[in-house]
Amino acid sequence: MNRDASRSLYDRALSVLPGGVNSSVRAAPQPYPTFVERGEAGHVVDADGNRYVDWVQGLGPLLFGHDTPKPVQAAIHSHAAAGPMYGMPSEVEVEHAEFVCRHVPGVEMLRFVNSGTEATVSACRLARAVTGRDKIVVMRGGYHGAQETTLVEGDRDDPEPSSPGIPAAFAAETIPIQFNDEAAARAAFREHGEDIAAVLVEPIQANMGIVHPAEGYHETLRELTVDHGALLIFDEVITGFRVGGLQCAQGRFGVDPDLTTFGKIIGGGFPVGAVGGKTAYLEQFTPAGDVFQAGTFSGHPVTMAAGLETLKYCAEADVYDHVDDIGRQLRAGLADIVADQVPEYTVVGSDSLFKVVFTRGDSPPQGDPCADGCRQDPDCDRYGDCPKAGVDVKNAQTERYARLFRPAMLEAGVLVSQNQFEANFVSYGHTEADVEETLDAYQEAL
Ligand SMILES: Cc1ncc(COP(=O)(O)O)c(C=O)c1O
Repeated sequence: MNRDASRSLYDRALSVLPGGVNSSVRAAPQPYPTFVERGEAGHVVDADGNRYVDWVQGLGPLLFGHDTPKPVQAAIHSHAAAGPMYGMPSEVEVEHAEFVCRHVPGVEMLRFVNSGTEATVSACRLARAVTGRDKIVVMRGGYHGAQETTLVEGDRDDPEPSSPGIPAAFAAETIPIQFNDEAAARAAFREHGEDIAAVLVEPIQANMGIVHPAEGYHETLRELTVDHGALLIFDEVITGFRVGGLQCAQGRFGVDPDLTTFGKIIGGGFPVGAVGGKTAYLEQFTPAGDVFQAGTFSGHPVTMAAGLETLKYCAEADVYDHVDDIGRQLRAGLADIVADQVPEYTVVGSDSLFKVVFTRGDSPPQGDPCADGCRQDPDCDRYGDCPKAGVDVKNAQTERYARLFRPAMLEAGVLVSQNQFEANFVSYGHTEADVEETLDAYQEAL
């Protein structure tokens, strides 16, 4: 496969963009990233004209793949032509917020921002302001964007910044605990209950190889936060309008968070974020309240139109049936291949998310309880070996993934997540032929 154009673009990029990219993960592919020229349904075509089945899907925002349905395209074009933005309110923001509030159980009001990072920053500020407390509980190995409060590693007794440039004093206000470990959550509240403003958690951890919540875990977090006067923030930047359809993951799991952060799909492929939640909290944001929050591009009409028309299309067409069905086919096919070739590996995912984590060890193949992706089921034969935290993915065969597996998939014309931590995303543009091609490639590459 000729990849000379990607190689030479990367060479040029290295002189003007740090690491040759504008977001870290994009530089992970070995030996250099694929530069994309255009997308077509579930595929992308690179700068050399090579065509790939694309499971990266913009890292999650592209629920339709690269072919935007006509009504969405029309709305984007008409709002771009009519402005494109004003720094004053417009009707489409109201309509979009009304749609989200109508469909997502925990959302009564919404503040649109420009990225998932901005959403989690604003949600943490709001939680701190309304509780008058500083500490935020997060899950070890989770990701909530490039922000000071959550770029923290270590454990609850010894949190430290995970990047230079973040003061240790900031990290001291973050309490990292292990996802799905109820005892750790109880201990955090026992030790710091008076100081905890919020627990910030993805309903399904989708940035560390996809970890499903153990039964009852979110209910425990809900109970602990209520008992101690803290807020529960669901970060649905990835799961929002992907897991559980229009009701999002909170509807699927029947948990009622105080605040929800969104991004990705609600912008229909354009930069977006949002904080949603109960009116009593949301109205603390300026100008209704005094918790400062603002943004030049927030509620951008083109983004709002793209996001709203995307969600309306999902309400009318068989989008979720299709993407979830393709997701199921992939997980089932991967489970067969893994059981046959590398039984110690773990197939994870749910709805339209999928992945194989290259777990080590001599564990048996996944059992029936987790036939459609690991569900953290204690009755599964290999419960002790399934990946439960970021560190389990870090300790998996990440080098094999990066140096051998992903390049082999690329050579076979299939683009999978750019590192071992990120999820793969199914879109409405993907077909059964794409599933077949992908499974054949996995069979060869694994
Ligand atoms: C769960 C979660 N929260 C927040 C973010 C940050 O979103 P953004 O990259 O739009 O700033 C991400 C990004 O992938 C995410 O996965």
